[in-house]
Amino acid sequence: MTRAAVIAGVGGFVPPRVVTNSELAQRLETSDAWIRTRTGIAQRHVVDPGTTTSDLAVEAGRRALKNSGADGADLVVMATTTPDRPCPATAPTVATRIGLSNAAAFDVAAVCSGFLYALQAGAAAITAGFAERVLVIGAETFSTLLNPEDRTTVPIFGDGAGAVVLRPGEREEPGAIRDVHLGSDGGMADLMTVRGGGAEQRSHGGVPSQDDQYFRMSGKAVFFAAVRRMTESSRTVLARTGWQVADVDRLVAHQANTRIIHAVAEQLGLPPDRAVMNIDRVGNTSAASIPLALVDGMAEGTLKAGDRVLFTAFGGGATWGAATLTWPDLSLT
Ligand code: COA
Repeated sequence: MTRAAVIAGVGGFVPPRVVTNSELAQRLETSDAWIRTRTGIAQRHVVDPGTTTSDLAVEAGRRALKNSGADGADLVVMATTTPDRPCPATAPTVATRIGLSNAAAFDVAAVCSGFLYALQAGAAAITAGFAERVLVIGAETFSTLLNPEDRTTVPIFGDGAGAVVLRPGEREEPGAIRDVHLGSDGGMADLMTVRGGGAEQRSHGGVPSQDDQYFRMSGKAVFFAAVRRMTESSRTVLARTGWQVADVDRLVAHQANTRIIHAVAEQLGLPPDRAVMNIDRVGNTSAASIPLALVDGMAEGTLKAGDRVLFTAFGGGATWGAATLTWPDLSLT
């Protein structure tokens, strides 16, 4: 029998400070009405100075482990666009702080698709027999990457972390990762980028401008590419699993923009109310988005044991992906 990777627990954490749209409108040329109607976001959580991505990841990781009943993990895969430092990776720091000393640990960089890439890496480690318990974390402090005066990015993003624990099991059991599809197009690298701080900028010499250190995004182009790629990837993974669109009970899409999620649902032929939504409260938390939506969906009862679930995401790179599974019977503490 083929060994499968099964979700055994989930956990999430957002920093306590809430920034409302009205608060942003006091310092940026924007309004609560614009942000709500164009994105679906009403508020986001933002870290206080001194709090880093690993702080959020440790909290989410601990919660996921506790909820899974596992007393440890032998692999930590962490998706983030906002590592504590350019070098080394943040995953070993997180593993050690959680008490998983000597566990294998590495970061995955796929921006808003990061959780799906990390999930696939963790699941593959289980199916290959390389790991017995994997902690997959998506964690971001995107607020640290934004130009505080940029109204095209600041309202969109929020900080947070979400995690799942994977264990070995059987492909047909609830919680088993059924199929995953991932893709990328490096020709779209400029659509969402931080130009400075990497080898490209250093090899050209010179000091990066302040602006080069901030995340920049071509919102409209990203919007259309996200709808197209998330829809295509979803269709691919559904075909691999042998599910019809009508079989999908819940769409857990990267919470980028309510209009993007509804457009993907519409193109797939899914009623929009099948989408699990928490973007109104947390904004776009990038790699943390899907696991945070899982936690909120469970807490609110919009995601229940036995639901056939479709994950999908699109992010910088460009990267995208989709995955299928039947939601298991899990508890949250
Ligand atoms: N408040 C008020 N006006 C704003 C604004 C803000 N926060 N941000 C942009 N605008 C203005 C623009 O300047 C533009 O003005 P103009 O018509 O005078 O030039 C107008 O609103 C429309 O801007 P546009 O970018 O065309 O809006 P949009 O409908 O595409 O919405 C996004 C912008 C960013 C919300 C949308 O493109 C989006 O969500 N893209 C995907 C972003 C994303 O999720 N990225 C993460 C990875 S998936």
